[in-house]
Amino acid sequence: MRVTPVLFGGGMATTADELRLEPAAGASWALRAAIRFWFSVVLLGQLFFVAHIVSFYGRTSLAGDFNRWNKVLQVGFIPGDHLGNRMLGLHLAMAALITFAGLLQLTPQIRTHFPAFHRWVGRSYMVFAVLASTSALYLSVIRGGVVGDSFQHAATDLDAILILIFAALALRFALARNFAVHRRWATRLFLAVSGVWFFRVGLFFWIFINRGPVGFDPDKFVGPALTAVGFMSYLLPLAVFELYWRAQHRGGAAARYTVAATLVVLTLGMAVGVFAHAMFMVVSGAAF
Ligand code: HEM
Repeated sequence: MRVTPVLFGGGMATTADELRLEPAAGASWALRAAIRFWFSVVLLGQLFFVAHIVSFYGRTSLAGDFNRWNKVLQVGFIPGDHLGNRMLGLHLAMAALITFAGLLQLTPQIRTHFPAFHRWVGRSYMVFAVLASTSALYLSVIRGGVVGDSFQHAATDLDAILILIFAALALRFALARNFAVHRRWATRLFLAVSGVWFFRVGLFFWIFINRGPVGFDPDKFVGPALTAVGFMSYLLPLAVFELYWRAQHRGGAAARYTVAATLVVLTLGMAVGVFAHAMFMVVSGAAF
């Protein structure tokens, strides 16, 4: 019997006999359980995010009612700015596609039972990543006028640049057929792409635990709390992934239990953020 002890970054399949002999089997189980818990919350939260993008932007686009975008966006649809509006439309389409494709890629059953489909979604994911981040950089740097100060812009622009770098590295190692290293870069790519979603979740977690906006001005949408959440939205998940990978591949029982416990605590916080964000979107009428 073979079991796969990891959700992503795999390649460490081991036998039940090996597990029985291994003293850290309980710790490996804890790490697997923690990552499954993490993925369940990401799945729920990101499905809601995709539903919001498709339902709100899709429905208004089909109706030709682009002015409704401006109730949600800071810059949004500008009559006459054909290139800018097309870039925004491209960005929103890629946002929905890439978020959904990322969830498909991380679902273990799809990877196991439909490998050819998994490979095609993976290739498409790279294309979506390049289009989502280049359109994002156009909107942020060239079109401009986006909400926030230069620190927050630096945080999101750096995320766009990391997405491009990680996509290039994931592709490079896939072409070199070095799939172990490819999977690590692909996971980093997923986490950088999810940065925008982590930002929303992190922000609403912050507002929820402080019972209101603390450390930033909610009208101007500037302040140190927003800058901190902006950078942490992808640097923290990337750092935790490095710890997870080391614990899973090289760590002993203590390292695995520590990372599993850290993941559970962070996932509980993430669940609070997902709930608070969803409630806000539904109650404010911005969700769908
Ligand atoms: C690749 C993952 C990304 C996803 C899934 C994504 C998703 C979205 C969504 C859903 C919106 C519409 C706003 C809303 O309904 O809440 C949006 C707008 C926007 N995004 Fe992204 N985004 C991504 C990456 C980025 C990055 C890295 C940047 C920074 C350079 C960025 C810059 C923008 C800008 C400037 C807007 C328009 C804001 C406005 O007009 O006020 N996006 N994005």
